[in-house]
Amino acid sequence: MPPVDAPLITPPGNAQPRMIVVDPLAVVSLIPLASPDFVPHRLLMFEAVLATQAKRVLETGTDVGDSARIFATALRRTGGVLFTVDRKTDLNLSWVQDYSNVMPIQGDSLKVTWNQTLDVLFLDSDHTKEHLLGELRKLGPWVRQGGLILVHDTVHSEFGPALTDAVRVWCREVGFRWSEDPLPHGMAIIEVIRDLTPLRA
Ligand SMILES: C[S@@+](CC[C@H](N)C(=O)[O-])C[C@H]1O[C@@H](n2cnc3c(N)ncnc32)[C@H](O)[C@@H]1O
Repeated sequence: MPPVDAPLITPPGNAQPRMIVVDPLAVVSLIPLASPDFVPHRLLMFEAVLATQAKRVLETGTDVGDSARIFATALRRTGGVLFTVDRKTDLNLSWVQDYSNVMPIQGDSLKVTWNQTLDVLFLDSDHTKEHLLGELRKLGPWVRQGGLILVHDTVHSEFGPALTDAVRVWCREVGFRWSEDPLPHGMAIIEVIRDLTPLRA
C-alpha cells in the first residue's frame, strides 16, 4: 500500500514545499472496500480521530483489519496509537507491518486488562446485547470526557435491535446522549459528556 498521508510535496524548481490536505475520501478508498456502503462509516471513523485529536484509540474486533487501517491512517495525522483486540488466534496480521502505530492484542475483549485513558473507543466484536453491554461497562469509562464511542452494526438485519438496546441501556445508566448513523449497517455515536473515572474497574 502506498503511504497515504505524507503531508509535504516538493514542487519542481526552487519553490518551497507546500502542505497538502489529503481528502479523507481518497484516504479511505485506498483500502479495498467489501462494499461501497462502508464509505460513510470509514469517513466517520477517520473524522472521529481528527475531531478528538486522538492519541489513543481502542478497537474491539480486529478481524481482517479494515477498520483498524482506517483508524491507523487517521492516527498518523494525530501522532496517535491504535490498540485492537480480537479473540481469534489465527488472524492474518501481515498488514500491521505497514503501520508503526498499531498494537494488536489477542484475547477476549471482556477479559483483557485495560488501564489507559482513551480518546476513541470503537466496538465491533461479538454482536450480542450482553457482550456489547459488557464492553460498554468495562471499557466505556476509560474514554475521557470529550471523547467518542462508536458502535458498529447497530442497524443490521442479522442482529436486529440488540446492539441499539445495549447502547440505550448503557447511555441511560451513565446519562449520556447518543445518536445513530442510519446508513447501511448503522453506527451508534456516543458522546462522552462527563468523566466516568469513578466507574473504572
Ligand atoms: C465483524 S468482525 C470485525 C471487523 C473489523 N472491525 C473490520 O472492519 O475488519 C468481528 C470480530 O470480532 C471478534 N470477536 C468476537 N467476539 C470477540 C470477543 N469476545 N473478544 C474479542 N474479539 C471478538 C471476531 O473474532 C471477529 O474477528
